[in-house]
Amino acid sequence: MTSTSLPDSLIATLPGTSYTDPAIFAQEQEFIFESMWFCAVRSSELAKPGAFRTVDVGRESILVTRARDNSIRAYFNVCRHRGARLCTEEAGEVKRAFQCPYHAWTYGLDGKLVAAPNLTKMPDVGRTEYGLTPVATREWLGYVWICLAESPPSFDEDVIGEVVTRLGDAGAIERYGIESLSVGNRITYDVKANWKLIIENFMECYHCATIHPELTEVLPEFADGFAAQYYVGHGAEFGEEVQGFTVDGSAGLDRIPGVAEDQDRRYYAITVKPQVFINLVPDHVIFHRMYPVAVDRTIVECDWLYMPHVVDSGRDVSRSVELFDRVNRQDFDACERTQPGMGSRMYAKGGVLVPSEHHIGAFHDWVHERLGTHPPQ
Ligand code: FES
Ligand SMILES: [Fe+2]
Repeated sequence: MTSTSLPDSLIATLPGTSYTDPAIFAQEQEFIFESMWFCAVRSSELAKPGAFRTVDVGRESILVTRARDNSIRAYFNVCRHRGARLCTEEAGEVKRAFQCPYHAWTYGLDGKLVAAPNLTKMPDVGRTEYGLTPVATREWLGYVWICLAESPPSFDEDVIGEVVTRLGDAGAIERYGIESLSVGNRITYDVKANWKLIIENFMECYHCATIHPELTEVLPEFADGFAAQYYVGHGAEFGEEVQGFTVDGSAGLDRIPGVAEDQDRRYYAITVKPQVFINLVPDHVIFHRMYPVAVDRTIVECDWLYMPHVVDSGRDVSRSVELFDRVNRQDFDACERTQPGMGSRMYAKGGVLVPSEHHIGAFHDWVHERLGTHPPQ
């Protein structure tokens, strides 16, 4: 059967190999994750100069740090001498320089080569020229976004533009003041599934009635299968009896003051391709970043962000964390249940999308466009 013989209600998905073939994953690393803006680190994790995090972006390890002048810097985590990995820890802090553990080439927080054994006997070695290789950075919503491309695409078009497409205007997200919220909780999920299964899952709500009893209790319209992402600017309304976005519908925490009247008691979901999902509710923001590590494995780091005084005063945020933690586990279980089927010969030509999932077809077109491939005719 070919895709052209599908009934009007159905459109084809990507073929199974798209989720299982390491060669396709390598292309995605090159043409998606190493070419686009990638949300790497919460800025507040780099609280002072010398604090650092290392992040895998595509096939590269990137070192993100804060320099003496408080600016955020990112570098390839590769020594300019003979290529040893400079920092092996996921996070940490150095006093004033990064020293390679192999032959002790030492780099300032600004990336310059500041010391090396016998360096004075090599006056022709440029300190900047042989410094760490920088990567483009941008801070937005309190996160450090980095881009490995030599000429990065427009951040305003690619990243902010995606939010505008979803919400109608950038002000709709900026009102939440996400950059000044505090991390009340962070959970890291190790999901044994291809990153695209996670995006596709996040984009549709056809599964909500089946696997998300707590979520559909709070957002009754989700039981119909149409995700908040289906309509531009639409936020799903809380159920009448629901007081807050919590696991039992009990009251949430203090409302974020900038939230507009028409955004109150509503839930917004945004996908910023290729690896960010943002959920907005009146008293907190749930910010997910995916780190694809293999064709069949994706790490998802999820932050629950609240007003700083809520976090500082030690208020109990567990009921709101529990709601979306359950949703995440329900979703990631579904993705892990789907991953093995991607390798089945029955799924070689892929599956189908029903009308409430048809917008996922645009995501598939986008994947084809990035990789320069075409859907099978
Ligand atoms: S490889 Fe880093 S100092 Fe030699
Ligand atoms: Fe879900």
